[in-house]
Amino acid sequence: MKKIAIMGAMREEIAPILEKVENIKETDYAGNTYYEATYKGKSVAIAYSKIGKVFSALTATILIEKFGCDMLLFSGVAGGIDPDLNVGDLIIADGLCQHDLDITAFGHPHGFVPEGEVCMPTDPHLRRLAHSVAQKRGVPLKEGVIATGDQFVANTERKSWIAEIFNAHALEMEGASVAVVCNALDIPFFILRAISDSADMDAGFDFDTFLESSAKQSAEFILDMVEAIE
Ligand code: ADE
Repeated sequence: MKKIAIMGAMREEIAPILEKVENIKETDYAGNTYYEATYKGKSVAIAYSKIGKVFSALTATILIEKFGCDMLLFSGVAGGIDPDLNVGDLIIADGLCQHDLDITAFGHPHGFVPEGEVCMPTDPHLRRLAHSVAQKRGVPLKEGVIATGDQFVANTERKSWIAEIFNAHALEMEGASVAVVCNALDIPFFILRAISDSADMDAGFDFDTFLESSAKQSAEFILDMVEAIE
């Protein structure tokens, strides 16, 4: 049977999932807690990584290598770039890039390192499944590039720069590092985010206000995805 990794960055992003799963077995490992469980007959392993690219890469690796997950779903919140995205709206990544990765001094494009790629695509089957789940739930679901970096963006200039350089629709702090790990280990992966703020001067306040409600939107959708996975 398939084992599905479910990851968030913050406790709030996985708490609504832990409330709904059954037969939870907790394991402390490498400075974090991992929860193996079942949901509607499916086997899952759940963790929140802590914020940022390094912690999320570590957690994704452990979910795959130690807990034997063969697919990874990420659930969480993001700052919206696309003006059509409002607080609570859902977006899935068709690809992810690292907006803070910069060796342009050597003539490379932003987000690129040799033997890597600027934009890492997510699994097309999981994306298709997400659209059918969205249709069943009757909720709109955007798809686009999500830009990742080790920065909480609360600045319209930085946000516009990311939008222009990477053609990004939303931004966050973990998706692309999870993508690097899953690509390297040949694990299909999926990144879902609900908008918590618009990465502008109000972003800090909005994030604190909407983190919990937006994280819940994303988590509930992810559980429907788990149920729909064959
Ligand atoms: N996650 C949610 N909002 C964000 C923002 N404004 N910047 C970075 N990550 C985020």
